[in-house]
Amino acid sequence: MKAASNQRIAEVAATAELLSGAGVAHLRACDRRLDGRHLELTTGRVVHFGSCSYLGLEMDERLKRGACEAIERFGVVFSSSRAYVSVPLFAELEELLVRVVGGFPVVVAPSTSLAHQAALPVLVDDGDAVCFDFFAHTSLQAVLPALAARGVHCEPIPHDRLDVLERRAKRLAATHRRVFYLCDGVYSMHGDVAALDELYALLERQPALFAYIDDAHGVGWAGRHGAGVVLGERRLHERMIVALGFSKSFGAGGAALVVPDAELGRRIFACGGPMIFSGPLQPAQLGAGIASARIHLSPELTVLQGRLRARMELFDGLAAALGVEFSARTRAPIRFVEVGSNERAAAMARSLLDAGYFVNASAFPAVPRGHAGIRLIAQREPHARGRAEPRARARALSRQRRRALAADATDRRRVRRLNAEARRRRAALR
Ligand SMILES: Cc1ncc(COP(=O)(O)O)c(C=O)c1O
Repeated sequence: MKAASNQRIAEVAATAELLSGAGVAHLRACDRRLDGRHLELTTGRVVHFGSCSYLGLEMDERLKRGACEAIERFGVVFSSSRAYVSVPLFAELEELLVRVVGGFPVVVAPSTSLAHQAALPVLVDDGDAVCFDFFAHTSLQAVLPALAARGVHCEPIPHDRLDVLERRAKRLAATHRRVFYLCDGVYSMHGDVAALDELYALLERQPALFAYIDDAHGVGWAGRHGAGVVLGERRLHERMIVALGFSKSFGAGGAALVVPDAELGRRIFACGGPMIFSGPLQPAQLGAGIASARIHLSPELTVLQGRLRARMELFDGLAAALGVEFSARTRAPIRFVEVGSNERAAAMARSLLDAGYFVNASAFPAVPRGHAGIRLIAQREPHARGRAEPRARARALSRQRRRALAADATDRRRVRRLNAEARRRRAALR
């Protein structure tokens, strides 16, 4: 066990060295001020396609003002656990968030990761079992050892295979009181959306099944009031908990748990470890969060969402015309080009950087071994007006992808086959 974790750390360290050596990771921006669209790196000024702030709200004047006013009123840090006392901004933010998510109780947390750490040990009893999507975010899987140490049975389910989940949940329900399924709403690397219709149907068929969904990447750009791919498009199921993250599209920082009843929310707030033993979400983030929630509740949000969608459609059309294949057909503003080896991903990210585009080179453990690639993230605001910039970006992507895959024809065929298989599987589940 110890040898395995040492080996994993050695592998991650080697990958970090490879990517930083290629000049595409562990970078430091040199800008004196950021504009949300560009980065000044030691190699030059580049367009930033690695930001998850899909709607560009982190640069919105109303959020900045909200943050500054909150600091003026409550200080930079409120250094007291919420188990003792909270600043008044929490009540204001939570009231607005309840409206965003359609009336369900919410519990604000300092981050999505800490929300999982607070909620899961409280939700899952010793007699329960846990199934988790194999690709569920690391922040969810990080809680599993603590559950397993209590004797809770934890088992992985192949990605998006609700047929396997159904079989396993049926079996586990015979020997366990409840079965929790942990998954993401939007998977952060490939941008694919969980098979939510199937999951809701499965919850109806399996009374012992509960779902815990991390929708950190669905917030903002998706659904009514930007409540995400789950709650923006459906009601919370009575056996479901959804975690929303605010450090991406929401532009503010922090997170919230959405729970089906207020008593459960109070239990997580009162008993969740980080709720008691970690510092609270700080005034600047609360002030920005309140301003962002107001925008999410206003008609302006659908305009922002529409602009992002238009941007995605334009880029997808140009990329398709140039023959660029993405690993998933998704409506999320995330695109992934799989190239196979870490070296190839590093080289491709570097070539794109030299062409003026900063993208994320993604390798294990962010993606499975041998499936490294390039992640590009779209933002609402055009990085340049009109079609010129998206066209240049699609061309650069197409050129660098061809170059990366040209290294080895067998690999190219393998990547194409894997892309096609992944698409078929996802299509079959929709
Ligand atoms: C799906 C998902 N959940 C959780 C997190 C972690 O969020 P936080 O920084 O709020 O802990 C991330 C990544 O940043 C993510 O992609």
